[in-house]
Amino acid sequence: MADPNLAPEIRAKMQEIFKPDDRHSWDLLWKENITPWDAGDAQPSLIELIEESGLDFARKGRALVPGCGTGYDAVYLASALGLQTIGMDISESAVEAANRYRDSSGVQGADRAIFQKADFFTYKVPDEERFDLIMDHTFFCAIHPSLRPEWGQRMSELIKPGGYLITICFPMIPKVETGPPYYLRPEHYDEVLKETFEKVYDKVPTKSSENHKDKERMLVWKKK
Ligand SMILES: C[S@@+](CC[C@H](N)C(=O)[O-])C[C@H]1O[C@@H](n2cnc3c(N)ncnc32)[C@H](O)[C@@H]1O
Repeated sequence: MADPNLAPEIRAKMQEIFKPDDRHSWDLLWKENITPWDAGDAQPSLIELIEESGLDFARKGRALVPGCGTGYDAVYLASALGLQTIGMDISESAVEAANRYRDSSGVQGADRAIFQKADFFTYKVPDEERFDLIMDHTFFCAIHPSLRPEWGQRMSELIKPGGYLITICFPMIPKVETGPPYYLRPEHYDEVLKETFEKVYDKVPTKSSENHKDKERMLVWKKK
């Protein structure tokens, strides 16, 4: 989320509209323009990782950004790595916003990003279409914690052996029982990824957006 310290009136409005047991209520938030997570640009910590980590991310192939929202990070990955990048969101309104952003962004290579309405938890691809890279920013924290094992299972099915999973661990706020965003820590990813992924990168970014400062960690996983 762009701002984990939501103003009380925004949090109240979100809780009135959003029902954790109805995934489709995300679209109602989008339709009401209640999108406090929207950062307006790709994450500086993601750009730092791609440009400075030295990890051998694929430069051809396919990437996926589940829960992509307006698609800033998906367009960035399509442009920076040259990957055919699918931005996926369960909300039709988010997909429309992402298409508008891509078409007006002026980012070179933005046309390699395409946006699809789909539910990550039922999304399937044949083995030969598994992804070289998946990136999660504010999707893991948006789903109910009871869904995290299923999230890990889906990641393991969707990424090809040797492919990477980038997770921006955010927001690392004090423990809360309610969400979204739900409370998270790096070990919450370990718990659901350690069987099928090797953790190859774990750093506090030096470049973070204003709202992410001191609340994020960059974790990268390689599929076994
Ligand atoms: C907190 S927002 C983050 C959006 C984007 N990553 C960003 O940082 O701007 C979470 C997004 O996940 C989408 N979403 C929620 N459940 C989903 C699901 N099961 N499959 C795909 N997208 C989902 C919501 O519609 C919403 O756009």
